[in-house]
Amino acid sequence: MSDANKSTSPDMPLSVQAENGITRRDFLNEITLGALGIAGLGSVAVTYQYFSPNVLFEPATTFRAGNPDLYPINSVTFLQDQQVYIVRMPEGFYAVSAVCTHLGCITAWHPEHELIECPCHGSKFKEDGTKVAGPAPRPLPHFAISLTADGDLLVDKLQSIKPTQVLKA
Ligand code: FES
Repeated sequence: MSDANKSTSPDMPLSVQAENGITRRDFLNEITLGALGIAGLGSVAVTYQYFSPNVLFEPATTFRAGNPDLYPINSVTFLQDQQVYIVRMPEGFYAVSAVCTHLGCITAWHPEHELIECPCHGSKFKEDGTKVAGPAPRPLPHFAISLTADGDLLVDKLQSIKPTQVLKA
């Protein structure tokens, strides 16, 4: 019997094996299983993402600024990672925000002018945050500052205080 007669015989069952060993039905079954597997993995990934907590981790708002002896009297120290100035005057310590009250640029202390200056639109502030020039609508806010039990400075950026409140240390 020739090859042409083999493939067209009416007695041949539907699941007859092809010459390469895989029937059409087996091939379609494997394609279907593969598609279902991919769809299943996709749904597991989406379900996992749905049940995972959607939490935004923000940096702590309270931080230690170290021992008071680190800051000489009549000094302004910029803590870049916290965007806060630790100011030590003869009357005590205060913590001043370094974020400009105009549009939020980070200011810089200029000892040659004895001013905190904003590079964006030219606002200028005294070391206690009082505005002296520029478009900033408000002075730089003061943050609560205290001492920890072991004697370090502790600043709470969530708590604004009056500029007249200083920490005597
Ligand atoms: S952001 Fe500071 S002056 Fe505009």
